Amino acid sequence: MTATQEGRVALITGAARGQGRAHAVRLAREGIDIIGLDICEDIASFDYSCGTWAELEETAALVEKEGRTMVIGKADVRDGEAVKQVVDEGVARLGRLDIVIANAGMIRYGATENPVQEWQDTLDVILTGAFNTVQATIERLVDGGNGGSIVLVSSSAGLKGTGTDAPAAQAYTAAKRGLVGYMQVLAQQYAAHMIRVNTIHPTGVVSGMTTNAAMQKMAADPNTNIAAMQNLLPVAILQPEDIANAVAYLVSDEAKFITGTQWALDAGFSIR
Ligand SMILES: NC(=O)c1ccc[n+]([C@@H]2O[C@H](COP(=O)([O-])OP(=O)(O)OC[C@H]3O[C@@H](n4cnc5c(N)ncnc54)[C@H](O)[C@@H]3O)[C@@H](O)[C@H]2O)c1
Repeated sequence: MTATQEGRVALITGAARGQGRAHAVRLAREGIDIIGLDICEDIASFDYSCGTWAELEETAALVEKEGRTMVIGKADVRDGEAVKQVVDEGVARLGRLDIVIANAGMIRYGATENPVQEWQDTLDVILTGAFNTVQATIERLVDGGNGGSIVLVSSSAGLKGTGTDAPAAQAYTAAKRGLVGYMQVLAQQYAAHMIRVNTIHPTGVVSGMTTNAAMQKMAADPNTNIAAMQNLLPVAILQPEDIANAVAYLVSDEAKFITGTQWALDAGFSIR
């Protein structure tokens, strides 16, 4: 990677663990300082735990091991004011903002209990969460005058729907697809400022989202269509670092011409 990343600052939501942590560590290795937030408490309508404050602190320690600084804050991306507060504190300490990775996300695996609530909470975390993240940061990027890169973390589900009667899973696909539309309007709106906006679409990745009891129970259920979840390449699941390596390129100047794209990081899942 080029040396031009040195001294830049990236905001990452959902930074306590999984892909968010991998982005933080990988970008720190590029010389980038990090502002990282996470909800650090559970959300009732999802059936596995969110990241914790201790995990967010561990991410910060890993960033510091790479020789960079990480400012951390507890914020729910559904709460725009809370996100803005962490961003403002981070920029006050680190001096600028160049990269935004809207990565926070949850999914529900279990049987439907409260369809409307599960639909709404999923949309709120994924879609409104990304909106709040952009709202809290876009003026910083524009006013910085250095261009910038926004990455909205969608999913293979945002490229290709898989049949389900569960409102939470329907909402996950709808929200991840909604991020594509949101990305396109942002890419058009801010291109003149050299602010690039793209979605990434990972297939299954080892993280808190996939290594939990609710996921294991769903996978073991004979009614689950496991074949529909398999990749084209004979790769069962990706590592968070696989996604972080791709994103490190996408946010770098080597990708300075890439905007408005839906980048499938999916081992061929979406054309299978
Ligand atoms: N793991 C996969 O297989 C997979 C595949 C495709 C896309 N994704 C997407 O990747 C992103 C990262 O997920 P991951 O795989 O690292 O899972 P993860 O569960 O390990 O990490 C997600 C993080 O987001 C945080 N978070 C959740 N809701 C939040 C909220 N309202 N406010 C702030 N933080 C919140 C969680 O606490 C957690 O630390 C998500 O958007 C997810 O939808 C994951």
